[in-house]
Amino acid sequence: MAIKLGDIAPDFTAQTTQGEIKFHEWLGEGWGLLFSHPADFTPVCTTELGMTAKLKDDFAKRNVKVLALSVDDLESHKNWIPDINETQGTSVNFPIIADPEKKVATIYDMMHPNASSTMTVRSVFVIAPDKTVKLTLTYPAATGRNFQEILRVIDSLQLTAKHSVATPADWKQGEDCIVSPSIATEDIPAKFPKGHKVIKPYLRTTPQPNLD
Ligand code: BEZ
Repeated sequence: MAIKLGDIAPDFTAQTTQGEIKFHEWLGEGWGLLFSHPADFTPVCTTELGMTAKLKDDFAKRNVKVLALSVDDLESHKNWIPDINETQGTSVNFPIIADPEKKVATIYDMMHPNASSTMTVRSVFVIAPDKTVKLTLTYPAATGRNFQEILRVIDSLQLTAKHSVATPADWKQGEDCIVSPSIATEDIPAKFPKGHKVIKPYLRTTPQPNLD
């Protein structure tokens, strides 16, 4: 069954390129990004894993641990990593799950038989410190993901988890936010002292609250 937003991310134990991982224990108190790629030694996947490695500091500053997966085995992953490092000018610095028996891929519904009977699709799960799933994305094999978008969503998830705001279309760090509909307009000044605008009774904006 598909994993839905708000579900507890299923726990598992898996072999990875950095040793055995017990997922929940490995996540600890921080955020997690679990993502699948269709297969090792394929071009789009090579660029995606390279990009993820290059964004190490961006994930670290958001307290996000990254974990990749495909249904290839450990030896295949280990043989492929030097190609990623060489061609993408980086060094893979996160674990990749070897899931040849499709155990994790099955519990996370990463196999979409009408797309491929043998490879995982490009799934993305962002998991909060309480282990609930906050974001799911699914891309097909031929379309590489935009990892800046994944960072942007994480920024929004972390902001909206702590403040009574939502983020508008195409929002980026530093831009105005939408005051949550649950806040009465008369209560906005006390909650959002940086100011606010009432554009419509249901559309109120305020400067991003967690910035100086
Ligand atoms: C790729 O990563 O390039 C890819 C993987 C599987 C199918 C098609 C493309």
